This record gives sequence, C-alpha cells and structure tokens, in this order.
Amino acid sequence: MQKIATVSEMRQIARELRAKGGRIALVPTMGALHAGHAALIQEARKSADAVVVSIFVNPLQFGPSEDVASYPRTPEADLGVCTDAQVDVVFLPTVEEIYPRGYSSYVTEEAYSKPLCGVSRPSHFRGVTTILAKLMNIVRPDCLVMGQKDVQQAAVARKMIADLQFGVDVVLVPTVREADGLACGVRTRGLTASQRQEATVVQQALAKAKEMVDSGVRSTDRLIAEVTHIIGQRRRVRVIYVSIVDSVTMEAMREIVPGKSLLMIAVWVDEVRLVDNLVL
Ligand code: PAF
Repeated sequence: MQKIATVSEMRQIARELRAKGGRIALVPTMGALHAGHAALIQEARKSADAVVVSIFVNPLQFGPSEDVASYPRTPEADLGVCTDAQVDVVFLPTVEEIYPRGYSSYVTEEAYSKPLCGVSRPSHFRGVTTILAKLMNIVRPDCLVMGQKDVQQAAVARKMIADLQFGVDVVLVPTVREADGLACGVRTRGLTASQRQEATVVQQALAKAKEMVDSGVRSTDRLIAEVTHIIGQRRRVRVIYVSIVDSVTMEAMREIVPGKSLLMIAVWVDEVRLVDNLVL
C-alpha cells in the first residue's frame, strides 16, 4: 500500500494505474475509519482494479459553529484498516496542500443540496462538492464509492458529477449497522452508552415507518407524524428534521412511491448530531 501526501505524487501514481488499463475506485473519507468505511472499500475492490482511499478532514464543510479541530483523528488505526482491506493507495494531503493560501474557487450544486441538511448546515454541501471535485481532478477515478447513510451527500455528488460532466459513476453502499441497529458513523462512535440507548429510537422509528408502508399506508404526513411522535418520547433526542423525499432529487413527497421514497431523519442526541434514512 502506498501512502501519498502530495497532489503531484497522487496524480503521477493515478496516471501509472490508468496506464496499466485499470479502473480506479476512489473512496473519499475524513478518516476515523469504521466498519461502514470498510464496507465501502470492499465494494470498491469489486468495482475496480485499484482502490484509492482519501483521508482528509475537509475544513470547508464545517460550519462556523462546528469545530473542525475536535473532529476525531485516528491516523494509525486508519492505516491499519486500509492495509487489512488491501487498499492500493492512501491519499493523506495536508490542508495547505489542498487549500493553499489565497485559495478562492468553489463548486456548488444548487438544488439537491438545499433541503434537509442544507437548511441546518447551509455551507456544508458547498464544502463537500468542492473537495469531491478537487479529488476527482487529482485522482481521475472511474467511480466514487459512497455510503447510503449520507444519502443526500451522495445525491448531491451525483448531480454535481452529471452537471459538470465528470464521467464518474457513484456507487452507493448500504448502511452498515451495529448490533443495536445504530448506523455506523464517526459521530455515533462518540456516544456514551446512555446516549446510544436514547439514539436507538431513530432505528425504531425507521422500522415502524417501514412496517406502516408495508401494511399499505401511503400518506407521508401520517408517517412523518408517527415518526416524530416516536422520537419525541425520548427526552434527550431532539428532531432536526423528519422528511420523506424522492430518492434522486431530495424533493419532499406527498405520497409514498414504494422503493423510490426515502425517509430522512436528523436528530440531536444531546449535542451529537446524527442522520439516518431508509428506503420505504
Ligand atoms: O462523508 C465524508 O466523510 C465527507 O463528507 C467526504 C465525502 C469525504 C467529503 O469530505
């Protein structure tokens, strides 16, 4: 496994991989790798000949009230995960390498990024689309492997890639859950045992909504009311949004279309922000 820190070296290695005729999969991450990331890497191995994992805590996607300095960083463990998963190249640039002094160019997607997390984190997706565009320009991958847990991020990425004609496929990997049903995530790992216990209400609410849809309910108002009610029973969990949207455009839906509607939930568990979703 090669460990690369500069853009010029990363470009050179990617060029060599392409020259061998291989397909390149890029797994973009901010490190603190967990079982969800391991599943992305595994899927990347299936979709390509060479797997590049980027590890970069992107300051641009943190809002003014979000502390980039306190984002978990576990570089040694991350390299262990990548070695075990037979990653070919790990790209670990510094902030100065990606955003040198005087940096002033940004990429924005202006439709799918507006609702849901776009409301409470207004500059977040601009940071995500900018870093993804830069990583795609550096690595020139054939596909980008992303997780269903952050499905709005994947939808925004797909739209930006289509609009800007990058010619890169987005491969979406199902959410990996822990034994208690919580979606694996960097923030989930920071929960105390009692916060975890409170957070399981999100999974219970998703399951209840799915059960209602399977028994014929189609009104999104009814489903949202039920989910909001279930979550509201936990004192330490506050709803940021509960919404049912089209799985491609992220637009709110009035009626469920089975297989195409996504139930999207974001909550605070005390001061920890969690997101989850389920295809209904
Ligand atoms: O999901 C993440 O970890 C980040 O938002 C991403 C896609 C790596 C961009 O910084």
